[in-house]
Formats: sequence, structure tokens, C-alpha cells
Amino acid sequence: MASPFRPDVLKGKVALVTGGGSGIGFEITRQLGLHGAKVVISGRRKEVLENATASLRNEGIDASFVQGDVRKYESCEAMVAGAVKQYGRLDILVNCAAGNFLALPEELSSNGFRTVLEIDTLGTFNVSRAAFAALRDSGAGRVINISATLHHGATWFQAHASAAKAAIDSLTRSLALEWGSFGIRVNGVAPGPIRGTAGMEKLAPGAGGALNDAAVARIPLGHMGEKEDIALACVYLSSPAGRFVSGHTMVVDGAESLHKEQIVPRAMVSSVSRGVEGKSRKVGIGGSKL
Ligand code: COA
Repeated sequence: MASPFRPDVLKGKVALVTGGGSGIGFEITRQLGLHGAKVVISGRRKEVLENATASLRNEGIDASFVQGDVRKYESCEAMVAGAVKQYGRLDILVNCAAGNFLALPEELSSNGFRTVLEIDTLGTFNVSRAAFAALRDSGAGRVINISATLHHGATWFQAHASAAKAAIDSLTRSLALEWGSFGIRVNGVAPGPIRGTAGMEKLAPGAGGALNDAAVARIPLGHMGEKEDIALACVYLSSPAGRFVSGHTMVVDGAESLHKEQIVPRAMVSSVSRGVEGKSRKVGIGGSKL
């Protein structure tokens, strides 16, 4: 899809994207860069970061990387310092680093639960906290927290990640409240099923065939999302078009999280409904029930 945004809409901005070396994080970085931002990615694996940075530069994007682990606060300070040292400022922080796997809660170890909470929730707090002064100094700081829809209701085999993402959405609201007076907007994006991601491979193993059809059948828009659907939501939230939006987590899932089993076939709705109303009208007019 050709971007509907002006290619210079983020010109002069500097963005840091955690988990920006691969998957959705990489596409977010790419789209921020294609719309004019200078970008810094962070992650744990140096080779992944090197390859991602080279690929971004090939597209003409001014990109660099800082290796680090969002679970360690000093690492987060180094990420922010790296961005500021390289480009002189920081305007946009996207918290996209995440860890996940399928697990039965009765089999998941305490350390497994903690690991996901530490990467997702503590990591989001750590980098946001480390970036606060730079975002405040930017004069128009933006934080975008990538969460999920797992915790809208509940999701099988995802007790750990659901808890982590619920806490992230809460943090999005709290930081929007607390940091608004510093000119910092804090929002979230909650992706649904996105094609070609580690998430789909890990959480719907072997997706394809019947499993794939079952996943798509739950999406009212009738297809999975693309990584760029998430990335362009981030461009919107980073751009001046989102200047009065803060504290909101935008669900980008084709309405998947609203899916409900359809009990009455669509074709029967009008006839069944009118039949019932006809009966009750008669009772209402002639009988003693009304
Ligand atoms: N099922 C159950 N428990 C698991 C697990 C799985 N598939 N994978 C890891 N764990 C548990 C480990 O057993 C360990 O607990 P223990 O010490 O009680 O045995 C704990 O989680 C930490 O695992 P470890 O591998 O030491 O942590 P890590 O920091 O190296 O890895 C993960 C973190 C587990 C999230 C890893 O999958 C990861 O980093 N993945 C990359 C990012 C990612 O998953 N992205 C997907 C987004 S949907």
C-alpha cells in the first residue's frame, strides 16, 4: 500500500524503537524512517540489529542501533543516550520489545511468568523512564506502547502475556496523565493477528490450512493484518494529526477482538425478529400484559 501520509511528515524527528530489529518493530522503524524520521533501533541480538540497520540504510533511511536488554535499566539509559548522542535529540519512543510463548498456566514456571512481565511491562516502563528527560526536552515527545488484545476478555494459553499487556495499557493511561503537562503524548497500538510475524508463528504454530482458516474466520474484516497496518498507525500517532490524542490504545485488529459466535443465521434475522415482535404487539394491544 502506498502511504497516505506525506513523506516528510516526521522530518526533523528522531525515533527510538525497542525490538526494532525484526518483525513488527522493524516495519514500524521503517515506516517512521520513510516518513522522514531518523531512527535508532535496539534489541538483544547484534547481528539482527546490524542487518536491520543495513536494510534501512539501503532504503535511504538515516538509521543506527544500540544493543541492549530492556529488562536492565542501565541498558535503557544507554539506548536513549545513544540516540541523543547520534542525532542530538529524541522525539518518538516506540516500546515494541516483547517476549512470548504459548504455555498452560498450571505448567508455566514462576520464572517464565516473570520473564514475560519483565520484558514487556518492566521494559516498557524502563525505557519510558529513561527517555523522559529527552522526550520532555523535545517539546513534542511521543511514546507509543505496542500491546495486544489478548487481555480484552481472556486468551487461552496466554495468562502471562495477557497480564503483561494489560499492565502496559494501564501504564499508557498513567503516563499520558502524568506527562501531558510536559508536552508528551503517550498512546498504544494493540495489534491483532498480523501476517508473517514471529507472534503468529509462535502463537499459532503451523498456521496455514485449517488453523489459518479458523483464525481468519474470527476476523470480521475477513483477512489478517499486515505489519504496515501497525506501522502506519504509529506514523499517525507520531504525526501532528494525532496532536490531541493521548492515553489511548488503538486496536488494529480488523475487529477480531469483538468476534462473537453467530447463533442466528444472518438470513433468518429479519423474519425471526418480525415474527416475535408481531406476536408481542398482539399481546400488548389486546391482552393484559401491557
Ligand atoms: N514455555 C514455557 N516456559 C518457557 C518457554 C516456553 N515456550 N520459553 C521460555 N520459558 C521459560 C523458561 O523455561 C524459563 O523459566 P525456568 O527458568 O523456570 O525454566 C523462563 O521462561 C525464561 O526463559 P529463558 O529462555 O531463560 O529467557 P530468555 O530471556 O532467554 O527468553 C523468551 C525470553 C522466553 C520470551 C524468549 O522466547 C524470547 O526472548 N523470544 C524473543 C522474542 C519473542 O518471543 N517475540 C515474540 C513476540 S509474540
